[in-house]
Amino acid sequence: MAAPRKIIIDTDPGQDDAVAILLALGSPDEIDLLGIVAVAGNVPLALTEKNSRIICELAERTDIPVYAGCDAPIRRKLVTAEHVHGKTGLDGPKLPEPTMPLQDQHGVDFIIETLRNAPAGTVTLVPIGPLTNIAVAFNRAPDIIGRVQEVVLMGGAYFEVGNITPAAEFNIYVDPEAADIVFKSGVKITVMPLDVTHKALTSARWIADIKALDTNVGHLVASWTDFFERFDIEKYGSQGAPLHDPCTIAYLINPDLFQGRFINVEIETQSELTLGMTVADWWGVTNRVPNAMFMGSVDDKGFFDLLTDRLARL
Ligand code: RIB
Ligand code: CA
Repeated sequence: MAAPRKIIIDTDPGQDDAVAILLALGSPDEIDLLGIVAVAGNVPLALTEKNSRIICELAERTDIPVYAGCDAPIRRKLVTAEHVHGKTGLDGPKLPEPTMPLQDQHGVDFIIETLRNAPAGTVTLVPIGPLTNIAVAFNRAPDIIGRVQEVVLMGGAYFEVGNITPAAEFNIYVDPEAADIVFKSGVKITVMPLDVTHKALTSARWIADIKALDTNVGHLVASWTDFFERFDIEKYGSQGAPLHDPCTIAYLINPDLFQGRFINVEIETQSELTLGMTVADWWGVTNRVPNAMFMGSVDDKGFFDLLTDRLARL
């Protein structure tokens, strides 16, 4: 058995972020979660850091250090998504106030320090919100870029195009300059775009299975997906909630669940019309240098079986 992957999750909880964090915590043989860094995204930073602590307490893992990162995009005004996630960011169930402390250190400094102190190539960054913290860390400490094992991010879209504008997916749209920095940095990147996450849809059957676990985690995850799915059902007519962020963790546990192509992906940062679009050269029609493993399909049964198995452990 290989040693667990050391990871830092950079997140804007968000019900799907919560499921991703719980999947990681339910998989200690494969994942060693070094820390959680909150970023402004679905809801403002004061809520995403609080929600990160709530999730750790729910999993009874108050040993996981939680940091606050950046409270706004690099150079734009923050756009949030309360219309999807509710005003707390974790709407659905009533949740207790967290009691575990927030770390004093800024989340960007935690990312830099962790990468400098660990052997090169042994720490994976898992951003599942806007890429602000990652980009600021790369700008402030370019020496860490070569030390990152891999960036596995949820963001972008090609065939699925946008969910916050006709052209852009939310995480990229909120901070396109940050995404541009990360995608041009030369770091090894694996992308879980809407093309994949829209195929990881919860079903009534799966939600019933999760409820049948009859655990605190099971009931909360069922209640979060109940709340979270209404946006996508209304908008896309889809049956079920797309579990965007857990796709990153599932990939780290079992990469064979996903298929994609190593292609060039560039970020629109100029045009107001297509701001934040991930321009993915899926068909290889340019001679731009490939820079990202862009996923296109998922074994959704395998994904949900894995999720149920790991959530059952919490
Ligand atoms: O577009 C989906 C992404 O935006 C997910 O990470 C969700 O949590 C929101 O942050
Ligand atoms: Ca997210």
